[in-house]
Amino acid sequence: MITYDVSRLTGFLPSEDLAATLAQVGRQARNLQDRSGPGSEMLGWLDLPEKSQALIPSVDLIADEIRQDGATLICIGIGGSYLGANAAITALAPGAKVVFAGHHLSASHLQSLMDRLADRPVYLNVISKSGTTTEPGVAFRVLQKWLKNRYPESWQRRIIVTTDPAHGALHQLAEAEQLRSFPIPPDVGGRFSVLSAVGLLPIATAGIDISSLLQGARDQLDALTATEGEDNPAQLLATVRSNLYERGYQIEVLASFHPELQQVAEWWKQLAGESEGKDHRGIFPAACAYTTDLHSLGQWLQEGERTVMETFLWIDDPGPDLIIPDTGHDIDGLAYLAGTSLATLNHTALAAVTAAHTQGGVPCSTVTMPRLDAASLGALFIFFEVTVALTGYQLGINPFNQPGVEAYKQELFRRLAKPGYSPPDSSGS
Ligand code: PA5
Repeated sequence: MITYDVSRLTGFLPSEDLAATLAQVGRQARNLQDRSGPGSEMLGWLDLPEKSQALIPSVDLIADEIRQDGATLICIGIGGSYLGANAAITALAPGAKVVFAGHHLSASHLQSLMDRLADRPVYLNVISKSGTTTEPGVAFRVLQKWLKNRYPESWQRRIIVTTDPAHGALHQLAEAEQLRSFPIPPDVGGRFSVLSAVGLLPIATAGIDISSLLQGARDQLDALTATEGEDNPAQLLATVRSNLYERGYQIEVLASFHPELQQVAEWWKQLAGESEGKDHRGIFPAACAYTTDLHSLGQWLQEGERTVMETFLWIDDPGPDLIIPDTGHDIDGLAYLAGTSLATLNHTALAAVTAAHTQGGVPCSTVTMPRLDAASLGALFIFFEVTVALTGYQLGINPFNQPGVEAYKQELFRRLAKPGYSPPDSSGS
């Protein structure tokens, strides 16, 4: 299970304030569970750990087909349609033959991807709930044409569509061109969709056990449903985040001490930023990789503006360790570390940063996942989703819409003179 340590926050959050906010967040948790809060029509993500189990056989079948073909899967999607899979694959299967496209508008980047894969077998997984998002739509046009040229007889078999099951452009295209497809449930927003087919097909293709991923999420969700107050790490983190925000800590840095989790932090940035930044309010989510960024942003964090709270992301058992060898000299002054393990050194760095930043006026707390495996990652995904939902409710906004993103999309359509563009609306996508 995910745990959350607030022991270093004493000087920043008086215990009576913490208790009062915790009680309020407990009420928000009941609204979430009863599905009676704002955006309740977009709470399908709470069902995914259970419901997505039904997808496992069909997802695994296609994933096996792609792997047996020796193919690279090119996932075309942006925002919530690719960040979760990217996070899981970077964390658990970094060398896997799964790459991402359609999350930018760079011609050189897309061309170099095609050049790199020119002589290798490929499949496409185009992922878009709306089916009309410009970046993945354009990349799909380019890559579909390229695929048709390469496989004039069998290109259809090499395209898998993940989209709304009943509506939208991509749904229509899949039907018209008889492409295999997976559904994105209409009541699940992009940034909450990692445990749907959106994440599961690329993750399974990378060789990650999606059954364990879903089981981990299910166990974590059960635990979060069965506990309250300080015993509930998601309620506690939502309490800390919202309370510190109201005290002027407007930026949250999620800092991982494990490079494997760097893309998890990118996924979290979108989850938190797109959910909470509304009505001219909301914590600005930023990500750091430690100890790397202690030699880059460490000075700012130690002595810059005091508007930052830090949430460290730690893995209790990170896996194989290395012992620092005795090299027979002490020219670098590091001989005293001979015999120490790197995991111990990393843990000491966590303790040192926590102490130094706390003394420097930065409220620090730590989220810990048990291991770097599929079950722990599933647990982490659902843990952060619940936390962000509760923080949004506590801040008084609807965490499940994204009117600002829609505004950009519509403005882009206007400037490109897209026929029939309409003004931004604020409904969930
Ligand atoms: O979280 C969201 O809803 C967004 O980030 C979307 O995932 C993103 O804009 C892509 O949208 P679509 O899947 O419709 O192409």
